Amino acid sequence: MKHIPVLLDEVIAQISEIPVRDQIFVDCTFGRGGHTREILKARGDFKILGLDCDAEAIEFGRKEFANDLSSGRLELKRMNFSDFDKLISEEKYKNKQFGGFLLDLGVSSPQLDEGHRGFSFYHDGPLDMRMDQSQTFSAADIINTWDEDGLNELFKNYGEVRRPYRVTQKIIDARKERTFSTTGELSALIEKAEGWQKKGHHPATNYFLALRLEVNQELARVEKILPTLANSLLPGGRLLVITFHSLEDRLVKVAMKALAASGLGEIVNKKVIQANWEQKKQNPRSRSAKLRVFSRGVIETKPFKNYQKGEPRES
Ligand SMILES: C[S@@+](CC[C@H](N)C(=O)[O-])C[C@H]1O[C@@H](n2cnc3c(N)ncnc32)[C@H](O)[C@@H]1O
Repeated sequence: MKHIPVLLDEVIAQISEIPVRDQIFVDCTFGRGGHTREILKARGDFKILGLDCDAEAIEFGRKEFANDLSSGRLELKRMNFSDFDKLISEEKYKNKQFGGFLLDLGVSSPQLDEGHRGFSFYHDGPLDMRMDQSQTFSAADIINTWDEDGLNELFKNYGEVRRPYRVTQKIIDARKERTFSTTGELSALIEKAEGWQKKGHHPATNYFLALRLEVNQELARVEKILPTLANSLLPGGRLLVITFHSLEDRLVKVAMKALAASGLGEIVNKKVIQANWEQKKQNPRSRSAKLRVFSRGVIETKPFKNYQKGEPRES
């Protein structure tokens, strides 16, 4: 499935209000370049550095954005954004400050939909879930080696499953006879143990989310890097973060509050920005999306050029 960028107008409106000119904007989660493409159009003065830890995302970008790459408006780097502190200690970006950062967290539609990536309970594939294919640790390692307590804690803490005990017990029992190697095996076991409690909500949803968060260390990586990114902004620059579940959103909210309390800058949108009804209808991924924005220094709201601001909806 094609990836539809979430909260696109709202993101572009925020970036259009960045008062600094002719700077580098970093799209920390390039994905299929949906946001990057529109930022390149809306901010003719910005160059974009696109990061992604997934080899397939970078390969896609190299093909689809060949013109922007050759004109020098776009640079692509395969790396984890949590290593941004290392990037700014390298010669090219040493002590550099940036016009802004975007983190559109989680997985892209192609990652979710392609069975071979092992994120999906609808498309059978290896029990993998690594965003970065060079990493060795995968979901299969967790399911086949973690003890009962470890699995229960993981499903409770990251999946917010209140009583994962039956599923965990069945995994431990099944392991006596075989190892798990596919998403289909695991989702069938969960479906059998839990049954369908809510229409349209696959019983494996929260278990798979917990595994994905652990495999990719998603929360820890975001938590680690937000202060570095905020401190690498030029005065007036903005840090935009889109999250898709409550644990991640809470983490970003707390981090931005702490940055504001330290005197570094201000939270731009006091209430979180969410998709409107129309967007939610067109793109189901946007239903849970939440955008939070932090500005370094005092907020100036003079838009870049004559950008016609969309109507970001606040809730
Ligand atoms: C939701 S998608 C981004 C989609 C993109 N905004 C677009 O419109 O096409 C998230 C992307 O970020 C990447 N990603 C997630 N966490 C990352 C991390 N810690 N470092 C680098 N890339 C990451 C994933 O591999 C995925 O391609």
